[in-house]
Amino acid sequence: MRDWGKHAHGSPLYATLVDVVSGDAELMRVINRIEHQLPPNLLFAAVQYLLMEDADDDLSRFYPSLAMDADPPEEVGPHFRRFVLEHEEAIVEIGNTRYTQTNECRRCIALLPMVLMAPFDSFHLVDIGASAGLNLAIDHYGYRYDVVHWHTDARLVLEAEWRGAPVALHEIEVVGRTGLDLSPIDPSDEGARRWLDALIWPEHHERRARLRSALELVSTLDIEVVAGDATDTLPGCLDALVPGVPVIIMSSFTLGQFSPAQRDHLEAVVTDARAHRPVHRISMDALDKSDDWAQLVVDDGSGPRTVGQAHPHGEWVEIYRS
Ligand SMILES: C[S@@+](CC[C@H](N)C(=O)[O-])C[C@H]1O[C@@H](n2cnc3c(N)ncnc32)[C@H](O)[C@@H]1O
Repeated sequence: MRDWGKHAHGSPLYATLVDVVSGDAELMRVINRIEHQLPPNLLFAAVQYLLMEDADDDLSRFYPSLAMDADPPEEVGPHFRRFVLEHEEAIVEIGNTRYTQTNECRRCIALLPMVLMAPFDSFHLVDIGASAGLNLAIDHYGYRYDVVHWHTDARLVLEAEWRGAPVALHEIEVVGRTGLDLSPIDPSDEGARRWLDALIWPEHHERRARLRSALELVSTLDIEVVAGDATDTLPGCLDALVPGVPVIIMSSFTLGQFSPAQRDHLEAVVTDARAHRPVHRISMDALDKSDDWAQLVVDDGSGPRTVGQAHPHGEWVEIYRS
């Protein structure tokens, strides 16, 4: 639990709760009943999810997501303990049925430059581990990278710092969209939307506002959603596309949830698909424990190349000079 504390960076409430939970045998007993990964994420998200349902509970006053002028976290311990023990069965059920499926559309600030590196500009887009499909709306967002702008008249404009080499911005046409996920999230389902909301740290108002706006946008798009393990579903999904249509296959913060054998299998499917159509593979992930930042990897068929790095939630992107 204490190791997980580094993830609480940016949340004074969760940083305090890490100490509260790790020093309390009863709370540790509850967290140890959560089998999905990662139990601390799921415990905190389950509590916030239940509070969002019943904001009258006294614990809500410590949550900046629920109280206008939240109380400082120093006194939260006994209130959190009471809430968890009172709602133990509901929390464990949520932790063992839901997943960490954080869907951050601002990652598109790092995905877009890799999309623009493709040798074609009209393509079908496949997202592996799409969650609610927010990144499949990549061409519907606007982008403000310091002085470089792309479609800033869009309903939702993503802002980020640009570092490193420039990338030529040009128009793209997404002719179809497919989202593959073990457990896809329906962006129009109220409980599913609340779960994505609950996965965001209580203090992160900007991320929460962006999520809500992106969910509205994506629920208006025509996306084919395929449930199941992407290593099983990707071949059929590619076979079903119009022959010869170029495809971009992307993934962000998904491969870390795959075993090494699953990753190899997935990339072999991508290689096989190249016999039938142009395929541009892009990924954004921090697979190596020593990676502080997400690595941006592109493979146009000549082998994977790391073309840059980015903040995991898209605060900045750096494209390496070649
Ligand atoms: C951390 S979320 C990232 C979501 C999205 N790509 C983003 O960057 O915002 C990882 C997603 O991968 C999905 N996932 C994990 N293993 C999978 C698998 N074997 N096949 C398909 N989806 C999987 C999870 O259900 C989850 O929605």
